[in-house]
Amino acid sequence: MIALSLAEIAAVLGGDLRLAGTATPETTVEGVVDTDSRNMGPGAIFVAKPGAETDGHRFVGAALAAGAVLAIVERPVDDEITQIVVPDAVLALADLAREVVARVRAGGGLKIVGITGSNGKTTTKNFLARILSDEGETIAPINSYNNEVGAPVTMLRVTHGTRFLVSEFGADAPGSIARLAGLVEPDVAVVLMVGLAHAGGFGGIEATARAKSELVAAAAVGGTAVLNVDDPRVAGMRDLADSRGLTVVGFGQSSAADVRAHDLEVTASGTTCVIESAGERIPLHLRVLGAHHVNNALAAIAAAGVLGVAAADAIARLETVEIAERWRMQPLGSDRVRIINDAYNASPDSMAAALRTLAQITGPGERTVAVLGAMSELGETAGEEHDRIGLLAVRLNIQRIVVVGQEARRLYISAIGEGSWDSEAVFFADQDSAFEYLLTELRDGDRVLVKSSNSVGLRHLGDRLGESFS
Ligand SMILES: Nc1ncnc2c1ncn2[C@@H]1O[C@H](COP(=O)(O)OP(=O)(O)OP(=O)(O)O)[C@@H](O)[C@H]1O
Ligand SMILES: [Mg+2]
Repeated sequence: MIALSLAEIAAVLGGDLRLAGTATPETTVEGVVDTDSRNMGPGAIFVAKPGAETDGHRFVGAALAAGAVLAIVERPVDDEITQIVVPDAVLALADLAREVVARVRAGGGLKIVGITGSNGKTTTKNFLARILSDEGETIAPINSYNNEVGAPVTMLRVTHGTRFLVSEFGADAPGSIARLAGLVEPDVAVVLMVGLAHAGGFGGIEATARAKSELVAAAAVGGTAVLNVDDPRVAGMRDLADSRGLTVVGFGQSSAADVRAHDLEVTASGTTCVIESAGERIPLHLRVLGAHHVNNALAAIAAAGVLGVAAADAIARLETVEIAERWRMQPLGSDRVRIINDAYNASPDSMAAALRTLAQITGPGERTVAVLGAMSELGETAGEEHDRIGLLAVRLNIQRIVVVGQEARRLYISAIGEGSWDSEAVFFADQDSAFEYLLTELRDGDRVLVKSSNSVGLRHLGDRLGESFS
């Protein structure tokens, strides 16, 4: 964090400063800010977040031992550390992030990009961070830090030397993107797509669309909205952007897009296409597997363009990216048995995209195998959506459909019901039995997709298969 005095921090948080040791109100702190005591180091600031299972207040001692010099707490603790007592530690984290970003922005050198969408946020964040980091210091979340803790923790990493902050905003409820994006008012608001991911908590896709549009509503005055013109619900956010006087840049594959991809060719070594932007036509070979990632690449190229990066430069940098992120379409195994571990999360859209990719990248004489677990957080549509994926797998002629876990059983039942001459479905109650089966079943030429929601944990099965067949 940028250097602030204890008195300044206490004032920003409206908290009660309790000094320990040699600290005075003028003492400055500038260490890392986090709610996880394991991430503490010398000079760090620990935020004691009360959680459902563990209470951060129990870890103040551990934070102190690791070098923390300040604890932001909801009740005083006995540990010998300077404390600021606040009514709500998570809100305090947000207040601190807002202040730090405002101070850095006042220097004039910082531009902020916010990214939301039901799928592809982390991938696009990584693409854009790769492009921007060649321009200047870029701060982007670790992994998928996009919630009420991860987003401000990331924002707090900006320094006076930072040129770009790339923030990912997830929505767990209506209003959460407004709250988090409102902390920084992004110069560029990127909306990728509206799908059924996490839709259970929202009451349907239209409510999800409204939640995503909160990012456009939170963009800075004079800012830009980067919108997916191929998704009608995202394209529809243009009216909101116009009413706020934002510039709109559209990306997608339709001719309405300002940054457009066409002539896509999906292969096992990535996707090639032609990018058209500002009258230029530039070929792109994206190594990250799957046509769906071209859209994320387009979003990154468009956002970078708003920030002054020429499309040719953005494309050259994107071509160096080998993997979206661990467990997202991650190639494992070997050329003989290729494993694609995409089990970090799963929604109906990302399941369908991954299955299509599997079908597209599998050549003649090779066999498609899909190892699928449940998609969680779908609410009342869950049964129907699992049925749909079972049918899709059969229609794509996925040759071996391996369903893992009771929650995914409907997918198996629908695949059997749909049954074609080519597809064969098998069911296992747990990962271990699926693993044993796959060890004996997989053979040279197999192309194996592993996909489930994070909570189902098939990514571990994917990793084990990757090791066994490498
Ligand atoms: N445009 C897209 N359409 C369908 N699936 C996509 C798209 N973009 C990415 N995906 C898939 O969605 C999954 C999640 O990707 P990623 O982690 O980038 O998304 P996210 O929005 O950050 O997810 P989370 O909400 O978990 O943070 C991956 O399986 C990825 O391949
Ligand atoms: Mg993410």
